[in-house]
Amino acid sequence: MMKTRILKELKEAGDYVSGQELCEKLQVSRTAVWKYMNALREEGYGIDSVTNRGYKLLSMPDSVTAEEIGSSLHTKWLGRNFRFYETLDSTNLEIRRLAEEGAPHGTTVVAEKQTSGKGRRGRSWLGDAGCGIWMSFLLRPQIAVENSSMLTLIAALAVQKAVMEETGLRCQIKWPNDIIAEGRKVCGILTELSAQMDELNYVVVGLGINVNVKEFPEDLKEKATSIQIETGRKVRRAPLAARVLEYFEQYYEQFLKTEDLSAFADDYNRLLVHMNQRIRVVRESREDFYISRGIDHKGELMVEDDAGRKTTVLSGEVSV
Ligand code: BTN
Repeated sequence: MMKTRILKELKEAGDYVSGQELCEKLQVSRTAVWKYMNALREEGYGIDSVTNRGYKLLSMPDSVTAEEIGSSLHTKWLGRNFRFYETLDSTNLEIRRLAEEGAPHGTTVVAEKQTSGKGRRGRSWLGDAGCGIWMSFLLRPQIAVENSSMLTLIAALAVQKAVMEETGLRCQIKWPNDIIAEGRKVCGILTELSAQMDELNYVVVGLGINVNVKEFPEDLKEKATSIQIETGRKVRRAPLAARVLEYFEQYYEQFLKTEDLSAFADDYNRLLVHMNQRIRVVRESREDFYISRGIDHKGELMVEDDAGRKTTVLSGEVSV
């Protein structure tokens, strides 16, 4: 989109860019450039224009629109087909609808607000406007169905790394894919798949990052936190969302080489909460106590029971 390209030029220049230069680079008329600048101003961008010097970007809204994320994004395929919505029921549901219509691998959807955001295990997820990154993307991997759950662990690593680089907040990971700061959840990931028999159709990875949430409802206060609460600073959402997509794309390509987590297990285990600690694992209505020994190359949690017997946990809820 032309608006995204103009924004990218302004951001990368960091100073005045002449109208003439923009026209030549983007192959549009001066009037068109002028119109795009006005459209961007209407979206909340502060753009100065000075005769003989051109245009300069002075301020940006904290939006998660296609222009704002797209103009910070350096990926090859992830997020290249991008849709932004002011309101959606759930970005995961939207990706599933788009997938059924044949949307390509890497299609990404972001909503400013979700009215029925989905969490794991049938729970709901808060999706208020203006304070989070509610984002899902579509993958069409040619991998074995049983290996698809590993994608979720890779997504957790990508979020952890992006959050650290963009905001300085060092989070941990609670197996399999919660991002934790000071014991409370900053980001949840919901991976869903469509498969027939043993053939994988597509995978939806949905991320909910609590970025500038100032306060949580009483029943969530103990369990949830946000980047703003932890750092004391408001964080710009678009560059963070772009960074998450960039790391995921990079990790995903690495993952495909071996179709397992051998390249990631050490990093993941360094970030794992409860490593070498006693944990409670809840599966269906059963609960068991173990010592956590970190993930193996398949992403399963290696544990030891009180008698020192070793097993692995394939899925379940971990707490202390
Ligand atoms: C969890 O329970 O921890 C997973 C929460 C996942 C929430 C995100 S928000 C964007 C995407 N769309 C949804 O409906 N859910 C995921």
